[in-house]
Amino acid sequence: MTTLQDCRALDAQDPLRALRQQFTLPEGVIYLDGNSLGVLPKTAAARVAEAVTVEWGQGLIRSWNSAGWFELPQRLGNKIAQLIGAAPGEVVATDSTSINLYKVLSAALHIAAQDAPARKVIVSERSNFPTDLYIAEALCRERGYRLQLVEPEEITAALTAEVAVLMLTHVNYRTGAMHDMAAVTAAAQVAGALTVWDLAHSAGAVPVDLNGAKADFSIGCGYKYLNGGPGAPAFVWVNPKHADRFWQPLAGWWGHAAPFAFTPDYKPAAGISRYLCGTQPILSMTALECGLDTVLASEPLGGMQALRKKSLALTDLFIQLVEERCAGHGLALATPREHPQRGSQVCLTRTEGAYAIVQALIARGVIGDFRAGDGEVGKHLDILRFGFTPLYIGFEDVWNAVEHLKQVLETAEWKKAEFNQKHAVT
Ligand SMILES: Cc1ncc(COP(=O)(O)O)c(C=O)c1O
Repeated sequence: MTTLQDCRALDAQDPLRALRQQFTLPEGVIYLDGNSLGVLPKTAAARVAEAVTVEWGQGLIRSWNSAGWFELPQRLGNKIAQLIGAAPGEVVATDSTSINLYKVLSAALHIAAQDAPARKVIVSERSNFPTDLYIAEALCRERGYRLQLVEPEEITAALTAEVAVLMLTHVNYRTGAMHDMAAVTAAAQVAGALTVWDLAHSAGAVPVDLNGAKADFSIGCGYKYLNGGPGAPAFVWVNPKHADRFWQPLAGWWGHAAPFAFTPDYKPAAGISRYLCGTQPILSMTALECGLDTVLASEPLGGMQALRKKSLALTDLFIQLVEERCAGHGLALATPREHPQRGSQVCLTRTEGAYAIVQALIARGVIGDFRAGDGEVGKHLDILRFGFTPLYIGFEDVWNAVEHLKQVLETAEWKKAEFNQKHAVT
């Protein structure tokens, strides 16, 4: 049996423990929701204040050049590239994940229409994040395609001669299950389909190698494991072999080859810069850079490989402690146990009270979140979701979180009325 002392010993031996000092974590909070909104980097408040008072306040319009505002999408993109197996110049930080998905999926459909016009299907997972499915559904309507939703184990069989694009989220937002990107991409390519990967729960959480996997398109979030702040800009990567083939449909002036030539006709910039649309939120970009730097600070300590090793140790410990200490309370594991098959979160199911248990934990300072099941269909149960960001979560945190969970279940604290009222954001 693992004890609290064992957990403290693991923290003492943890080569990454100093990275936690980069963050402002509220006293008394165990934050297991970095997969939804990452924690505030200590540098962010001063850096954003500087961007406001000095760059905006004093520099005014001159800051587009003097403070490097105009190049922020590419500069931040190059930082993100290091975390996702992309080369410099292949990524831009811009817009939201949903909007970037619209761009890359449109581009993929354009390429498919040219290279394989008979292919009229986009395949995705039924439990993909809804925004991905909604964007795909809208594009299918607009372009005369069909969206086919399958379970993970049905993906390979679904890759028929009709499929133009396979669109997947690398780490599933509900279960934390992770696809083998290289193997799935290879299978799609053998079947003649292009791949679009959503890295919302992967970038900064697990090692990713887009070029190594020979993926086609990818997008991801800035506000989760990249700690970029609420509504932080997202990112987009396009395999260089596709980048110059088509305009993406949101062909705004920032994606123009010469935006300040102000010509009436559109001429796309070379490479990934054509995936920009219009003026970017500079203050949010500034905060995102602070978040990216917290992840890149792990480089001298082994970078993503070291973060992954700790993440797996944290999630293994959480699973083990929940099974040892909360046995008999109706919790079941929804996340795969096998390391190659899971990301950096652990999801538990319970037929009753999942929402209220999460609320009771939040009231105790253990912040995870709840994701609703599909009720009547009954295939997916309600989920208690716990994200483990190894940059700032330690082994003692895991012990304490499970201790709170045990107490909430043993005392039936979650049955209190106050924990059973649904808020707008769960
Ligand atoms: C897989 C995935 N894609 C996209 C999003 C969100 O997209 P957006 O930032 O555009 O709201 C999320 C949010 O949790 C997500 O989990």
